[in-house]
Amino acid sequence: MSGRRRHNRKITTDVRVGDCRELLVSLPDNSVDLVVTSPPYADQRKTMYGGVHPDQYVDWFLPISEQLLRVLKPTGTFILNIKEKVVNGERSVYVLDLILKMRAQGWLWTEEFIWHKKNCYPGKWPNRFRDAWERLLQFNKNRKFHMYQEQVMVPMGDWANSRLKRLSVTDKTRDSSKVGSGFGKNVSNWVDRDKAYPTNVLHLATECGNRSHSATFPTSLPEWFIKLFTQEGDVVLDPFMGSGTTLIIANRMRRNSIGMDTAPEYCEMVRKKLNSVDLYLCEPEMDYESLG
Ligand SMILES: C[S@@+](CC[C@H](N)C(=O)[O-])C[C@H]1O[C@@H](n2cnc3c(N)ncnc32)[C@H](O)[C@@H]1O
Repeated sequence: MSGRRRHNRKITTDVRVGDCRELLVSLPDNSVDLVVTSPPYADQRKTMYGGVHPDQYVDWFLPISEQLLRVLKPTGTFILNIKEKVVNGERSVYVLDLILKMRAQGWLWTEEFIWHKKNCYPGKWPNRFRDAWERLLQFNKNRKFHMYQEQVMVPMGDWANSRLKRLSVTDKTRDSSKVGSGFGKNVSNWVDRDKAYPTNVLHLATECGNRSHSATFPTSLPEWFIKLFTQEGDVVLDPFMGSGTTLIIANRMRRNSIGMDTAPEYCEMVRKKLNSVDLYLCEPEMDYESLG
């Protein structure tokens, strides 16, 4: 389809109140291009969402991931923002267990991105340091999925003046992978280029703007994955929508979106924000890393 016709196509945003375990059932098979979501973590914010015990978390989540597997297109991607907490001096293992059970369910665990919360404030604990990162697990149905890598390229930054100015002999030839993967690199290929591909570590600031929700992720987080895995007119789903960060940025980027949340007040708030004229006037915040 031409760019112009694509641009004229109507973009829809669908906000549904209720438990995603029930609502997801009504979505058609193979209809979603990207799921980006941050469900409540085990035992967190009990008063807000009831809380699920770490021991029950996997059983609670598997029927949801089963539905997501059904509604995702074969070329689609599921990004799950989740992090275990420390219980009794140890990290709980429910996230690791969930990954294994989702693989058994039919998902491929394709990649893990790290969200480095670069403006995290300092703290002190007797036996550990400030936790300044979260997991973004990537799951797919197939090994071949849509990925638009050029859309997330980053400025070369200081790397161009440091590493690329001191190339070794190996840097100037194709250095084949030592693990026999068939991949290789020739660092000198990057000399004189303005942009490079990013790493799987996303250095994004947390946001402190008042969005009437205490567990929001920054706009730049869903924005990055929407750019990487979708095109205009595609469908983005967030079954744990909260303040609607995913839907709002998807709408700005001319993607169709579906959001679900058990809290009617969040759904109402998101609908109001989506109706706001300002929405279309705002530029998305750019706060990505460079390689430097
Ligand atoms: C961590 S928050 C999501 C925050 C969101 N990423 C944002 O930027 O605002 C999780 C949300 O899931 C909602 N929720 C909890 N259980 C749910 C369920 N079973 N179905 C749908 N939403 C649920 C909560 O009301 C909460 O708003």
